Amino acid sequence: AKITFINQSGEKRTVEAPDGSSVMEAAVRNDVPGIDADCGGACSCATCHVYVDEAWVEAVGGPEPMEEDMLDFAYDVRPNSRLSCQIAIRPELDGLVVQTPERQG
Ligand code: FES
Repeated sequence: AKITFINQSGEKRTVEAPDGSSVMEAAVRNDVPGIDADCGGACSCATCHVYVDEAWVEAVGGPEPMEEDMLDFAYDVRPNSRLSCQIAIRPELDGLVVQTPERQG
């Protein structure tokens, strides 16, 4: 699936990522800046925080309780905030757009 990352200056990067991997992995593998992913995807660092584009919020869905707790540690959390290691890439998410925050943590 294609995933587009937009930073806070509006710069876009689109990457191709396999189904079953996470949005965080897609960013890290393609050197997309703005996602630190310190814990490597274990939902225990909150440095893979992204904002899901409004058009995609419904398709992506909301966080599980564990992710919601961890999001408390992220910087500038908004209603469309998610931890990108917890978004599994699936065919329905082809074309997904997420924004990377100004900073992590
Ligand atoms: Fe650590 Fe997502 S990579 S919470």
